[in-house]
Amino acid sequence: PGKIVEIKGKIGVVDYFGEQKNVLMDFAKAKVGDYVYAQGGLVVNTISEREALEILEAWKDMFFALKKADEKLSVIEDIPASQKLLAILQKVNLGKPFVKEELLSLLRTSNKDELRLFYENANNVRQKTHGNACCVHGILEFSNVCEQNCFYCGIRKGKRLKHYRMSSGEIIGAARYAAEELGFKALVLQSGEDSWYTAEILAPVVEAIRAMGVLVFLSIGSREKELYKSLYEAGARAALLRFETSNEKIFESVRPGTTLKGRLELIEYLKKLGYVLATGFIVGLPNEREEDVVNNILLTKSLKPEMYSFGPFIPAAGTPLVKHALVDKNLLLKVIAIARLADQDSNILVTTALETLDKRAKREGMLAGANSLMINITPRRYKKLYCIYDNRADNNIAIKKGIKETIDLLHSLGRAPTDLGVHIAR
Ligand code: 5AD
Ligand code: SF4
Repeated sequence: PGKIVEIKGKIGVVDYFGEQKNVLMDFAKAKVGDYVYAQGGLVVNTISEREALEILEAWKDMFFALKKADEKLSVIEDIPASQKLLAILQKVNLGKPFVKEELLSLLRTSNKDELRLFYENANNVRQKTHGNACCVHGILEFSNVCEQNCFYCGIRKGKRLKHYRMSSGEIIGAARYAAEELGFKALVLQSGEDSWYTAEILAPVVEAIRAMGVLVFLSIGSREKELYKSLYEAGARAALLRFETSNEKIFESVRPGTTLKGRLELIEYLKKLGYVLATGFIVGLPNEREEDVVNNILLTKSLKPEMYSFGPFIPAAGTPLVKHALVDKNLLLKVIAIARLADQDSNILVTTALETLDKRAKREGMLAGANSLMINITPRRYKKLYCIYDNRADNNIAIKKGIKETIDLLHSLGRAPTDLGVHIAR
């Protein structure tokens, strides 16, 4: 928790051990001097001073030790590199914006030393803009029914699959366990595009989870605008909706019956409603060129999201793309590092798909500029049925084990699971 030290209109200033972050007060009735939890830059809960001081006392030494470790891991070593790369990286210090050609050139980096220098620069920017704060959300996959037929996805309509739909009671129960027993302050509710879940069903679920002092994050696909509006009114405050690819032709070839224009319009609408936005793309779709990857990063930036979410394409059994090639892990690390350099104060997620590509990639991604993670809290019997791609990294990991692994990783990197605040200029 942090302490509110100032309120200017809708914006509050929260102090975490002397470090101050801006938050949106939203609907929490907090005043100066109150102790609060914030997530996604929104105050989600207030707690008593006694409870807050107890937690802060337990955290104090650890907090400063972690900060020190992070600073140590964020130095840029003296690594030999070409003049061309050095000139591009130098732009960061000069505060100059990148042109597309430079981002393409970064994407083509292949020399081992140069890659190291590039990632270290991105990690250094991450450390300077965010300190050691790392955003950790829980994700609950509540239905694997989907009415869309995306070529890449393992829960597409056209695939024979054992389906499940969690009832309202089951969703609320799983969320309560995550919030009360495991301490999550933000939960992503994810599903296929499943119209069985109407506003009448979902709004009370959102209300109940919001009442637990949790940020409700929706990831329910291209559903109706009215549904998103009702769920905002019910208390949902964040939405994850990737545009998937900035290339219209690729979009239409892998998402039959839908358009990029329509997807982007919905993303803009969600922002207009006031949702904290997470968006991004898949890397490695068929016919994708290097330029498309850079365009994907630039389109994400232009949408001004609070969080970047992108991951590698991973083949899924029983889909038209099952034989399409896997992407190289370094390509993904480069995309993380480019996104960090091109949009310095962004929040960048390391996704499960990247971890699935390579067990070490979660750590490497966090050292190449990423600063956010998600932990799957879906009940095990359902998780294995939510097979958007094969061999998911977290498939056989119990929730508590997943948490322990993540905490161990964060500690080894000197990161702390605290809120990242909001950027007022956005
Ligand atoms: N590989 C990687 N990502 C995938 N998604 C769906 N199928 C795959 C796949 N085979 C991603 C989409 C979607 C998110 C929830 O999962 O980008 O937005
Ligand atoms: Fe459905 Fe999303 Fe999979 Fe497409 S990517 S089939 S919309 S769950």
